[in-house]
Amino acid sequence: MNEVFPGVLRDEAGLLTKNLVPGTRVYGEKLLDIDGSEYRTWNPYRSKLASAVMSGLASFPFGRDTRVLYLGSATGTTVSHISDLAVDGVVACVEFAPRSMRDFLAVSRARRNVVPILGDAKAPLDYAPFVGTVDVVYQDVAQSEQADILVRNLPFLRKGGHVMLCIKARSIDVTKDPEEVFRRERAVLAPFIDITEVIDIGAYEKDHSFVVGVKR
Ligand SMILES: C[S@@+](CC[C@H](N)C(=O)[O-])C[C@H]1O[C@@H](n2cnc3c(N)ncnc32)[C@H](O)[C@@H]1O
Repeated sequence: MNEVFPGVLRDEAGLLTKNLVPGTRVYGEKLLDIDGSEYRTWNPYRSKLASAVMSGLASFPFGRDTRVLYLGSATGTTVSHISDLAVDGVVACVEFAPRSMRDFLAVSRARRNVVPILGDAKAPLDYAPFVGTVDVVYQDVAQSEQADILVRNLPFLRKGGHVMLCIKARSIDVTKDPEEVFRRERAVLAPFIDITEVIDIGAYEKDHSFVVGVKR
C-alpha cells in the first residue's frame, strides 16, 4: 500500500480514498477497513480522474481545503471521491440532466462539502451566485464545444488555479482524427491556460484525453 497523492492510496486492488461518509457506497464500490479507517475503492473505468491517475497524472490539486467547481457531475461517481479528499473544502457541482440530478441529490445530501446545482455549464451567470472563487475547475461534459465551455467558466478560477478537462473526441466530431480534435480543443484553452499535462486515458476510455493546466 502506498500513498500516490495526499489522501489517495494504491494497493493491489487499485486506488482508494478514505470514505467521508463511513458505511455508505455511491456506485457499488468496495469498502475496506485499513487501520481502523474505512476506504472506498476508486474505479478507473468509472472515473476519468482515477483513470488519469492510473495513466501517470503528475499533478493533483486536491487537498483538504480545496474549492472545486465541477462541471458535469452526473450521478456523482468522481465527485464523491473528490469530496472524500476536500474534507474541509467545497465541491460545487453543475449538472443539467434532471434524471442524473435526482440520483445525485441523494449523494450530495450525505456529503456536507458537496453543493448540487441544476444548471447548464454553458450559462455560468445563472449559477454564479452559488459559486465563489475556486482553486480547481474540473470538467467532464461530453458535449461539443468542450474547451469553450471551460473558458466560459474561467472567471470562477483564481489565478494560478488548476483546470482539469476531460475531452471526448467523438462528442465533438466523429469524422475527425481524435488527435486533431484534441489539438483544436487545447488551442482554445491556450490564450488563458498554461497546459502542464496531457494524459492519454485511452486504456480506460476510448478516444479521451485528460488535459491539466494552470490559469495565467
Ligand atoms: C460523462 S458524464 C460525467 C461523468 C462524471 N463526471 C463522473 O466522472 O462521475 C457527462 C455529464 O455531463 C452532463 N452535461 C453535459 N452537458 C452539460 C452542460 N452543458 N451542463 C451541465 N451538465 C452537462 C451530462 O448530463 C452528463 O451527466
